[in-house]
Amino acid sequence: MRYLRFLGKVVLVVAVLAILGMAFVYWRSNTLLAQRIQVDEPALAIPTDATAIDRGEHLATTRGCRECHGKDLGGSILVESFPVGRIAGPNLTRGKGGIGEPDPIKLERAIRHGIGTDGHLLIYMPATDFAGLSNADTADLMAYIASRPPVDHSVPPPLAGPLIRVLFLLGKAPLAYGLQVDQHAPHVAAVQVAATAEYGRYLAQGCTGCHRSDFTGGHVPGTPPSFADAANITTDPVRGIGRWSKADFYNVVRHGKKPDGKDVDAFMPWRALRTMSDTELDALWAYLRTVPGKG
Ligand code: HEC
Ligand code: HEC
Repeated sequence: MRYLRFLGKVVLVVAVLAILGMAFVYWRSNTLLAQRIQVDEPALAIPTDATAIDRGEHLATTRGCRECHGKDLGGSILVESFPVGRIAGPNLTRGKGGIGEPDPIKLERAIRHGIGTDGHLLIYMPATDFAGLSNADTADLMAYIASRPPVDHSVPPPLAGPLIRVLFLLGKAPLAYGLQVDQHAPHVAAVQVAATAEYGRYLAQGCTGCHRSDFTGGHVPGTPPSFADAANITTDPVRGIGRWSKADFYNVVRHGKKPDGKDVDAFMPWRALRTMSDTELDALWAYLRTVPGKG
């Protein structure tokens, strides 16, 4: 009896501590997320010509926008699981449930800064991947978004669950990517599309959200534990892809096949990346050859 009473007390103390711990996690993360970031960058004009729209579509596909915001940009839910939360890309069209008439400031702030027009931090929107986009590419993305027909589709807002909040406080999950973007870094007007390591570095910014900024990979922050780890794609000969040939690289990105013949996990967005041109893949490969081996 006495033993049971003691056990009861232990359970009660643990429960109270867990509740207090969670209360702290929610309070602290809400405080961090309530920050406002002011950016004064002039609005980019939204082009309306077919060349810009086509280039924008190519960017929206290869940069992964359509993976999260839906093929038709009408929004989609990617992850809805306790305790992670809800990772859902909003509807970017003018349709019901969408973001309304395209506003160049709103679009640019979301894409390159990870913030809303009022400076509030967006969650799960991986702006660190896009912060370095040139003005021309950002404008073309906006042109594509603005050209989309309205889609009537309401998507529930993204939600940060307890696990992601704990990871966020520990610095293990970015969650609010806007906090990691160098908000006042200047943007280049345009970049030259060529099969160079320099252009590859520009493109590889879009891989860092999953493969990390040093390309050593690992578990993708904020995804459920069942998700495959991103691979090490540094030049390390054992842990990375240092021994790969360019053909091996093409095979992964174009056909989803690894050198050992196995299928690449579906979480690696090769079906989107395969639409990159040869010039783009050559550029990426040239750049990846220069990434120091690590892991
Ligand atoms: C990993 C998924 C993901 C990817 C990839 C992604 N987004 Fe988002 N995006 C989101 C989420 C989630 C939000 C909502 C953030 C919020 O409401 O806090 C968002 C918000 C936005 C918004 C603001 C919408 C609003 O309500 O004002 C725009 C614009 C946007 N994204 C454009 C893009 C573009 C363009 C790309 C590609 C260059 C892109 N996104 C890639 C997940 C993603
Ligand atoms: C949404 C997350 C995500 C993005 C974005 C992403 N990858 Fe991956 N990538 C993965 C995952 C997960 C794997 C591991 C797949 C597996 O284990 O089968 C992977 C595997 C790979 C591999 C195979 C490595 C190996 O050893 O098998 C290569 C090469 C690669 N990615 C290159 C890229 C490049 C280049 C980009 C950017 C243009 C990119 N990835 C963008 C998630 C991502």
